[in-house]
Amino acid sequence: MRHVYLITFFVCVLVVSILGFRDTPFTLPPMDVFPEWAFPGMKHTPKLRPQAESKFFADGRADRTPPAHTVARGMLRDDDHRHLGKDSAGAFAVGFPADLPVDLKLLERGRDRYQVYCSVCHGALGDGNGITKKYGMGATPTYHDDRLRSMPEGELYNTITNGKNTMLPYADKLTPDERWAVVAYVRALQRAQLGTAADVQDPAAKKSLGIQ
Ligand code: HEC
Repeated sequence: MRHVYLITFFVCVLVVSILGFRDTPFTLPPMDVFPEWAFPGMKHTPKLRPQAESKFFADGRADRTPPAHTVARGMLRDDDHRHLGKDSAGAFAVGFPADLPVDLKLLERGRDRYQVYCSVCHGALGDGNGITKKYGMGATPTYHDDRLRSMPEGELYNTITNGKNTMLPYADKLTPDERWAVVAYVRALQRAQLGTAADVQDPAAKKSLGIQ
């Protein structure tokens, strides 16, 4: 009989010690089983907390003024005309920024980014048949209609930067140059659907297709 009391007592102590103090805010730091000198840097990473005091800096403040021209992550305002995709008159720009060469490298970058961020909805061909369609998102437009074919590059850029209706903005995922690269790739996708016999350049291919 004595053992029953003893066992019950220990079970109670066990339950309380494991579950009893969960979520209790403690004022003292937790007990250090492994001392700092044995495992330096494992538990106590030297860092400065906001609004705290610092002995490192002469003025004693932990908060430092960020270096000039610092922009917080995701807060870059692309408010020059190049980055808004607008010309100096404020209309959506036709063509690409003058200082950005539209070459194979840019297109390849654009394809890479497009396949990561856009093809899920717009499809690898830009026909709006991405994987999301299978899951009920049917409103993704194709790029292959006259409205989007004749849309200025700057407006495409603006859609990527700021989103449109149910499409979210991609400004936090693509740098301005990457957005232009995607615009170039969207143009390439559109062009790819409009090929004619006149586009065939290779003499051997021409011959086998019977094109003069
Ligand atoms: C989550 C799905 C989704 C993703 C990802 C997505 N889009 Fe869209 N996109 C849409 C939908 C939906 C619309 C139609 C928005 C509307 O209602 O006008 C749209 C519209 C567009 C339009 C047409 C805008 C217009 O003026 O009609 C373009 C161009 C476009 N997207 C380009 C892109 C590019 C480039 C990317 C990748 C950076 C991208 N989209 C990623 C869903 C998506």
